[in-house]
Amino acid sequence: MLIDNYHRHISYLRISLTDRCNLRCIYCMPPEGIGLLDHAEVLRLEEIERIAAAAARLGISRIRITGGEPLVRRGVIDLVRDLMKLPGIEDVSLTTNGILLAEHAAALRSAGMRRINISLDTLDAEKYRRITRGGDIQRVLEGISEARRQGFSPIKVNVVAMRGINDDEIAEFARLTIERPVHIRFIEFMPVGISTEWDQNSFISSSETRDIISRVGTLYPVERCGKSGPAAMYRLEGAAGQLGFISPLSNHFCDTCNRMRLTADGKLRTCLFSDQEIDLKKFLRSSVSDQALEEIISEAIKSKPKGHTISEPSFKKCRRNMSAIGG
Ligand code: GTP
Ligand code: 5AD
Ligand code: SF4
Repeated sequence: MLIDNYHRHISYLRISLTDRCNLRCIYCMPPEGIGLLDHAEVLRLEEIERIAAAAARLGISRIRITGGEPLVRRGVIDLVRDLMKLPGIEDVSLTTNGILLAEHAAALRSAGMRRINISLDTLDAEKYRRITRGGDIQRVLEGISEARRQGFSPIKVNVVAMRGINDDEIAEFARLTIERPVHIRFIEFMPVGISTEWDQNSFISSSETRDIISRVGTLYPVERCGKSGPAAMYRLEGAAGQLGFISPLSNHFCDTCNRMRLTADGKLRTCLFSDQEIDLKKFLRSSVSDQALEEIISEAIKSKPKGHTISEPSFKKCRRNMSAIGG
């Protein structure tokens, strides 16, 4: 078992497959995109599998595939299939922007994936183009429909709440859950990486988002099962779907954090906000044994910080952009 210095059981690994993306969301990247990793820097799929296998032997039971946009990476379906076969792995899920989902949903499902999270911050085609700097919302909507047809459940939609950008759509998003069995989760805009459009004015707290939704109807808390992640989940009366709030700034969930992250260039990050990384690729490419790899990961977990320090004056944004971490 991986237990850190603050008695947290680390059981969930987020694997970023690539730093590349077919969109340029304003909360994630500067308009020109970011300097991309060289091919040789990116972990090969076999290397990812080796790290995942070591992590599984250490007690990791859930894996989430992220990006950039993970579906732009060739071989993603085979990787999912192989990860699902690892002893100890109970669940392999994916976070995607949905642009390529319609064409990959069936294959992902047959590779054994059951859950999927999709980023969609507006329901308006023109605004979508602005937020993503060029994306076509129609493709995402088709991706979501196809994921439903293929039986993915739950389907979670991630909405980064931004004042002056999509705050006028919060109630409309909430109403969607009445008829549809989706989970819509509002995420507080986080100050990660360079040149994103984060500032105090664009930030909306989850409590403000909830106030807006309370005008649509009463929110009833959904019983948390042990495995639920950072979102506090609710349901409008009689609704088919659920509403969630992810509040890393106003009410951080670091005390119960069960995650570690692997970047596309093979660095293990024990916290989303901490640049303290352990270079696993260096060890893999110098013929480390499986046992030594496990020891390196176990040791790395001991450096997991107690929590983030965003609200403190000394806080500095981390060097990587969200697209190079995977959320
Ligand atoms: P599941 O619980 O497995 O459904 O995944 P998730 O909700 O964590 O995954 P997803 O990739 O959809 O992430 C949703 C949002 O939560 C993103 O904005 C992530 O950056 C954020 N998030 C996920 N894990 C953490 C975390 O450990 N710390 C912080 N601050 N944010 C996180
Ligand atoms: N703040 C909050 N959420 C973010 N995401 C990307 N950048 C940010 C940010 N700065 C979200 C995306 C995606 C998930 C992986 O991370 O919307 O759903
Ligand atoms: Fe791409 Fe996701 Fe970043 Fe948007 S949030 S630019 S979809 S990696």
